[in-house]
Amino acid sequence: MAAPRLDAFDRVFGALSEHGVAIWESPLSSAIAEVVRGEVAQLAATDHFRPAMVGRGPRKRRIPEVRADRLCWLVPSEDEDDHELFAVRPGLRALRAFVDDVRRGLSERARTSLPTVEMMATHYPPGTFYKAHIDQFVGGTERVFTFVYFLNPGWRPPDGGLLTIRRPGAQEIEPRLGRFVLFHTPEVLHEVTVTQRDRYAITGWLGRTRPR
Ligand code: OGA
Ligand code: MN
Repeated sequence: MAAPRLDAFDRVFGALSEHGVAIWESPLSSAIAEVVRGEVAQLAATDHFRPAMVGRGPRKRRIPEVRADRLCWLVPSEDEDDHELFAVRPGLRALRAFVDDVRRGLSERARTSLPTVEMMATHYPPGTFYKAHIDQFVGGTERVFTFVYFLNPGWRPPDGGLLTIRRPGAQEIEPRLGRFVLFHTPEVLHEVTVTQRDRYAITGWLGRTRPR
């Protein structure tokens, strides 16, 4: 079944080239999405999430007026248990494999090498948000594409928590279970509007190694 996936990559890459943003509805089955959701909920219930920080190095700090989400790094992990984390979680393992397919597909089509993957789980408790920003560079990696995989079944307009792409004709994306969004990291200003419900997602970046 290689052909449908190839067609989907062409469509997604076309949308990225044309609009800078692509929305991919359920590239993984809804059964896998449910499993990933359960695994992330379990990580949240077992104290794996930490308050998100702004900035880096000595200036890294918590600024709840900018973002008050909580996160759990998956790749690369500061935690020695990284491999175990995937070994015992088949949903995250399937997502990680899919992200690698996307990485290869985009590398070929964009004719650029994208060797690095970063990946984290995020949790926005009710009342939290992330003000408009562009995803910053970290460490030795230059981020090229951002991806977000949403994990919220039954999302409704009053729940808020939209991923809003800030540009003329702003695009507002509901964080529905199984939806996968990709955008060009350096150009796309975006925000997460106030959520009224617990809101879970996996966010990550495909990137180049930055010359030092
Ligand atoms: C981020 C981010 C968007 C979302 O984590 O940098 O912008 O919809 N996430 O969760
Ligand atoms: Mn962001």
